[in-house]
Amino acid sequence: AEFAGDLCSKKLKGKTMLAIIGGSGLTQLSCLEISHRQIIRTPYGEPSGPLTFGKLHGEDIVFLARHGHGHTIPPHAINYRANLWALHSLKPAHVISVASVGGIRADLTPGKLVVPNQIIDYTYGRNFTFFEGKDQPVTHIDFTQPYSQQTRALLLQAASNAYEAIFDGGVYAATQGPRLETAAEINRLERDGADIVGMTGMPETALARELGLSYATLAVVANQAAGRGVNVNAIPLKEIHTVLEQAMVRVRNILEHVVNC
Ligand code: HPA
Repeated sequence: AEFAGDLCSKKLKGKTMLAIIGGSGLTQLSCLEISHRQIIRTPYGEPSGPLTFGKLHGEDIVFLARHGHGHTIPPHAINYRANLWALHSLKPAHVISVASVGGIRADLTPGKLVVPNQIIDYTYGRNFTFFEGKDQPVTHIDFTQPYSQQTRALLLQAASNAYEAIFDGGVYAATQGPRLETAAEINRLERDGADIVGMTGMPETALARELGLSYATLAVVANQAAGRGVNVNAIPLKEIHTVLEQAMVRVRNILEHVVNC
């Protein structure tokens, strides 16, 4: 990657910090030496849970479980603004979002890891911007490249250093959930050019950009999307837990190399 040189990232040393938003299957980081947890209030309400501060291989990082402690907050009810605002207040050098997804493209089978480079928003009724309210000037962010190139490159380099296979690029379709999609909906997303589908990518990715955060997503394929693969008539929900459990071992390995490299 073109950023590989300055990536592995002395910038993380010292005061700057990595923030990790953990999704389904990554509600905690086992290797994290926890120093403290902190409940943070924001002008937008409370984040999904307390922020967990600690050291990962000697580096200060902060972790937030997107769906809350005990995985109780569904995708449409997550307070994305509070989550991003709280992390932004810590001025992290990078924000890495871990998110489980369905694989639409045939080679994106359960357990595969993807660092998407594009996103399409199919969500609705969520609080999707900080730029609203009385006396706020109209603001349009550039979102041509929705993810930070630097953070993507950092993830890809870390995966390479960790000897973990990972897909560089892909289009993430953000759906409303909490139900999974119909086969026809997946066909439509595929025609739109989507490679993976998840429920939390938006508005999280856009809010990160509004705050100027260096944000990228590490997507973990939990299942083949509806109507795909061998299980054309139903998604085998019982298998997802095991797939994620096994994949998160590799995700943790990559995250350790993010701070290590
Ligand atoms: N669709 C949407 N979101 C998901 C899926 C899926 O198949 N799997 C994991 N998150």
